[in-house]
Amino acid sequence: MRGSSFDGRGDGENRVAQFPSRNGAGSGGVDATGVLDSRLLPDQEFVAQWDAVIVEPSQKDRLLSQAILNFTLRDKVNRSNLPLHGLIVLHGPPGTGKTSLARGLAARTAEAIRKLGQFRFIEVEPHALAGAALGKSQRAVRDLLGQTVAEQAERGPLIVLLDEVETLAADRNRMSMDANPIDVHRATDAVLAQLDQLAAKYPHLLFIATSNFTRAVDGAFLSRADLIENVGLPGPEACRAILASAVQELAKSYEAVGHILKDSDFERAAKQCVGLDGRRIRKLVISACALRKQTAIDPSGLTGADLLTAAKQAQNESKSVLEGQS
Ligand SMILES: Nc1ncnc2c1ncn2[C@@H]1O[C@H](COP(=O)(O)OP(=O)(O)O)[C@@H](O)[C@H]1O
Ligand SMILES: [Mg+2]
Repeated sequence: MRGSSFDGRGDGENRVAQFPSRNGAGSGGVDATGVLDSRLLPDQEFVAQWDAVIVEPSQKDRLLSQAILNFTLRDKVNRSNLPLHGLIVLHGPPGTGKTSLARGLAARTAEAIRKLGQFRFIEVEPHALAGAALGKSQRAVRDLLGQTVAEQAERGPLIVLLDEVETLAADRNRMSMDANPIDVHRATDAVLAQLDQLAAKYPHLLFIATSNFTRAVDGAFLSRADLIENVGLPGPEACRAILASAVQELAKSYEAVGHILKDSDFERAAKQCVGLDGRRIRKLVISACALRKQTAIDPSGLTGADLLTAAKQAQNESKSVLEGQS
């Protein structure tokens, strides 16, 4: 599931400070059910997340151009003739950098457009909404989109992240009634209706949605998207770059570790990473340190061979998970 420890914000109801700091998590000052974070943009932490994700530069360009266009064009064109809904969708396997890209895209967009005033950011956690008691999620969605988002959009340019949107905009055609209560069905309707209303009313509002399972996302939701980008598993070069970046991170604290990058086992380990997702590859360096008590105590002793062992283990684990699924 989502890594809430990732940003160290904790999970308390009061995670959005009553006295928001000027920057960083909670600086947007929004405290409502289903809102995981709210910030003023641009935000350096998000920019760093954008930079850390290694994908084809052309993909980042497409995302950024589409997001910028939303703010330059949407208040100038008639929606019936040139439909721009203000929705970008990122989909792909878990751990491929979608959430990081979405947050980073928000920050980079705000950076690129200065003349519209203070950009704000809200991250919605659909699980919190859908997890509400049966019969309540429709209402929770309505409150969140119709009130919280609308209020923030009134204040100025706003970017809303709908992370793991499959929970909210579940595909009604694929849903079995016993597995997915009617409530989810209604929640999907509520999302679509609200999106249309919000899009029509606020031209300086952009939704960025992510999904780990595109096939689970409602077709009517996807058809509203102005851009749908698939974020796939990293290719061989990207795998190597991700592994190198994780080693470099460790080398910031344990300088000796930097030598691993020149080791032939590093290249072997990088090859072993093909087929793993970016998160798994970054975690390899940590698993490698945990192979021996000695390196756990002092990671300076980490070797290329450790990295290779950890990479092989990760491949075997991911194979056995896949076999278990088939
Ligand atoms: N292509 C990639 N390049 C570099 N790091 C990546 C890549 N894909 C994932 N990661 C790293 O994995 C972690 C999880 O990424 P996240 O954005 O939460 O993925 P997702 O939302 O697709 O599950 C982050 O630390 C991210 O930097
Ligand atoms: Mg994610």
